[in-house]
Amino acid sequence: MVLEFGCGTGRLLALLEANGAFDRLVGVDVHAEVLEFAADRVARAELVRADATDCSVGTSFDAVCAFEYVAAHMRTDAELRAFLDTAYAHCRPGGVFVFDAVSKPGAVREESIGVYRSPGYRLERAVDVIPVPNGSVFDLRVDYRATNRETGEQAVVSERTAIRTIGVDDLRKRLAAAGFADVDIGPTAGEAGAIVAVAHRPEPNRYKPV
Ligand SMILES: C[S@@+](CC[C@H](N)C(=O)[O-])C[C@H]1O[C@@H](n2cnc3c(N)ncnc32)[C@H](O)[C@@H]1O
Repeated sequence: MVLEFGCGTGRLLALLEANGAFDRLVGVDVHAEVLEFAADRVARAELVRADATDCSVGTSFDAVCAFEYVAAHMRTDAELRAFLDTAYAHCRPGGVFVFDAVSKPGAVREESIGVYRSPGYRLERAVDVIPVPNGSVFDLRVDYRATNRETGEQAVVSERTAIRTIGVDDLRKRLAAAGFADVDIGPTAGEAGAIVAVAHRPEPNRYKPV
């Protein structure tokens, strides 16, 4: 059983579904619009509109994950703590939480254009990076253009979001404070400054001190 926080348009869920090894897939995202794309992409996943800093899907999972900088959207320390607590609460004892984060601004320096297709719509996403003076936060301006493939009707939405950077030692401390153990954090093979963290919810201690 796998839970993905910030599943967006369902890119990872589609890969997990194709893999076939997982009996239950659940995707959570705060934006209903992206979940509609995910619903077109992944037939078998349960999709839930909820905030990853404050939700309960009602089950605990073997693996909880959050990719493409969902953690970096947690601007304040309180939000990041609530996100880690929510992830912990959804991991079964012995389960794993895997997510990426931004340790250095380099990871978000890239501007990009992405195109997502579903049977009914085509979604284009253009990302601009805007440095903010304090150095640990960057603003991303993201423009979305959705086109109805049948009628040609278009909707355009713009959003500006802050991306926080976090050091490896700081993240390690925050994971420990949330209860995670056996933590491994390392650079991703791709963008410089992007890190991946693997953290485990400990099994309850079966032995009592004598
Ligand atoms: C850059 S997208 C990544 C989407 C997907 N994980 C992927 O790999 O394609 C980040 C996603 O996180 C979602 N998100 C941001 N803050 C969130 C929150 N507090 N709770 C749930 N989803 C959130 C956004 O709506 C967005 O879909």
